[in-house]
Parts: sequence; C-alpha cells; structure tokens
Amino acid sequence: MSGAEGEGVRLAWPTRGLVVRADGAQGAPAYRSEPPPPGRVEAVRAFGEAAAWPGDRWRGRENLVVEGDNADVLRALMPELEGRVDLVYIDPPFNSGPTGRRHPYENAMPHEMWLAMMEERLSLMWRALRPGGSLYLHLDENESHYAKVLLDEIAGRQSFVREIVWRIGWISGYKAAQKNFVRNHDTILYYIKPGGPVTFEKVYLPRPAGYRRRGAPGKSAGYPLEDTWNASANDPLHSIQIMSFSGEKTGFPTQKNEALVDRIVSSSSREGDLVLDAFAGSGTTAAVCHKRRRRYVAVEMDPAAVDLMVQRLIRVVRGEDPHGITAAAGWRGGGGFVRARLRPEGEAGPAEPVAPDRAAAPHGRSPRP
Ligand SMILES: C[S@@+](CC[C@H](N)C(=O)[O-])C[C@H]1O[C@@H](n2cnc3c(N)ncnc32)[C@H](O)[C@@H]1O
Repeated sequence: MSGAEGEGVRLAWPTRGLVVRADGAQGAPAYRSEPPPPGRVEAVRAFGEAAAWPGDRWRGRENLVVEGDNADVLRALMPELEGRVDLVYIDPPFNSGPTGRRHPYENAMPHEMWLAMMEERLSLMWRALRPGGSLYLHLDENESHYAKVLLDEIAGRQSFVREIVWRIGWISGYKAAQKNFVRNHDTILYYIKPGGPVTFEKVYLPRPAGYRRRGAPGKSAGYPLEDTWNASANDPLHSIQIMSFSGEKTGFPTQKNEALVDRIVSSSSREGDLVLDAFAGSGTTAAVCHKRRRRYVAVEMDPAAVDLMVQRLIRVVRGEDPHGITAAAGWRGGGGFVRARLRPEGEAGPAEPVAPDRAAAPHGRSPRP
C-alpha cells in the first residue's frame, strides 16, 4: 500500500464537482458548474475603536462581520486569510428539517446538494487555516457521518482528532414520549491541520462538592474535560433552547450557548489569534471571541441575522451585555469591529469613505491584550 492511511477513499454522489449558490428560482439554492467571480469585501460601517478601509483592502487587523455567501466571501478574502486563521468553528445548517426560517439554504436541502455545498466551503476554510490550526465542525446525526468522510478527504484522515458528543440537556414532554431512545446530542468533529505548532489549553471542570483526592494531597486543577460534554453532574452545559429564562437568548432559532463555543475558543486559540466562523448566525462565536480578546471574521448571508449580530456586538463593545461568558471573561467593554459586505464583481464601489460609528464607542473598558 502506498500513500497516507485512508488516502484514496472518496465519497461519490451524482452532482459531485458542481458548486451551490442561492441563485435559483426565488433565491433557492441551485447548482452551478463554477463559482461566480470573487467580488470584493467592502466596509459598510466601523463600530467602536475599529477603522474602516475605504478604497483599500482589509489588512487582517479589524474584526469583521461580513454579509454574503460564505463561499464567495472566503474566495474574496483568501489573499488575506490563506494559512493565517488559527481556529475555525462552524455550525452550518444541520439538514435536519425546516426550522420555519425563510432562508435559501434552509435546513432541508437534498442530501447530495448539502454535500456539494459543504465540500466547496470546507475546502476554502481548510485553505484559510494555518498549519497547526484547529477546525471544529458542529452537526448532528443527519449529516455528521458523511461530513466526517468528506472532511477526512479534504483534510486528510490523519488530521482528525476527536469527535465531541454534546448532550443537549434534560428531556421532557414530546421528546420524552418518543417510543425510541431519545435523541439528545449533537456531534462536533475536531481536526488539526498538520505542519505547525498546535494550541491546546486543557479545560478543567470544578470537582464535585466533597471530592477528596486519594493518596497524597496534591494540586488539582479540577476534572479534565472529556469528549462527552454535559454528560455528568459536574458538567452543566444545557442548550439555551431548553433554558426558557436564559438572558443570553437573542431569539435566533439555532443560537448556540456562549459557554459551549467558549470551550472551543479558550482551548484552541490564544489572545490575539484569528478565529473564523463562516456560518455565523446571531454571532455567538464573534461575541465569545470579542470577550476573550481574539480577532474574528464572522460571515453570514442572512441580512436579518447580520443585523442581530451587529446589535449584539455593539452591546458587547459598549460593555452592555451582561450575559453569556461576560463574567467568566471579566469583560467590561472595549474594542470594535467593522460591518462589511460582499460587493459582486462589476458593481460600483462606495463613493464616500465609511466613518466609524462613535455611538458604539465603549462606556466601560476591559484591559487590552
Ligand atoms: C445554525 S446557524 C448558526 C448559529 C450560530 N452558531 C449562532 O449561535 O447563532 C447557521 C447559519 O448559517 C447561515 N448560512 C447558511 N448557509 C450560508 C452560506 N452559504 N453563507 C453564509 N451563511 C450561511 C444561516 O443563515 C444560519 O444563520
């Protein structure tokens, strides 16, 4: 046998090789033989301490919230991103059935179209990752097994590190009544790109009350986090969807908890590192990165979700978001970000430079890294 172990194993589906864009009838996802020309990412408005870059290219310094299809945005930003991203966390549509949102890439694509959609985007994100960087892909049982095989192909099977099982929370009502084992977990696939220094800070949970170490008393950092999350009494991390009174809720149907994303951001990146979330939704990754002093690029194609994310981040910048990991991170406000959009090839650019929105300037301030 020659080559790396597992090399040559490939998923096959009839439309493999085509790309997917939301330009079918009424903006529905449709196949194309090739991606459109890349276009440009232009600043729309700067918030807090950030400055926009009229007429110039993003230099990789400002935090970015970009509105647009992530495949096109990643292609446009690739000169700045390639090999520079320290951490990717994505929570794409799970393809688990309609959520009631009107969205071109709604959660119910034909299976092979979902694979075609993900193949192009995962390949771009893997290119953006630096050697030694980490990629986490959050899914559930609908597509996770196929995504594992696809990602093994893109990243190399040897790059796979862990499958994290996140138990969503307690069960009641309709879920508990199912005549079956109750479905109650998501899957997070964790990969590391070979060839560079790896960042990994171990996460410890507090020991249960009354815990005594056997033998000689020693220093104990706590209980090291396993690859099953929220699966024991000393690891409470229920999904915010089942916590009716969580102040963290934005109203976005598939929002994830800051505490969940924080485990990934805090273990696999350092202050000042660049984090990419190309399926950003209501901006949980961006909010966590801001509070943990990571730089971030958050891409989202739904304008309503981008508005929600921008409003959320303005509160973070102003020190007016007491929810999520604010206390744990000691966050009091500061920093800034730029809202940007993808300008398609051929469309004229903005006539006026974009002024920072000083209204979002922070009231409090957290120590800078
Ligand atoms: C499951 S949600 C992410 C939720 C997010 N983790 C949060 O905590 O709010 C997936 C998001 O991906 C967005 N999305 C789907 N396809 C996309 C694409 N091709 N480009 C950009 N965003 C996309 C959807 O609009 C949706 O907001």
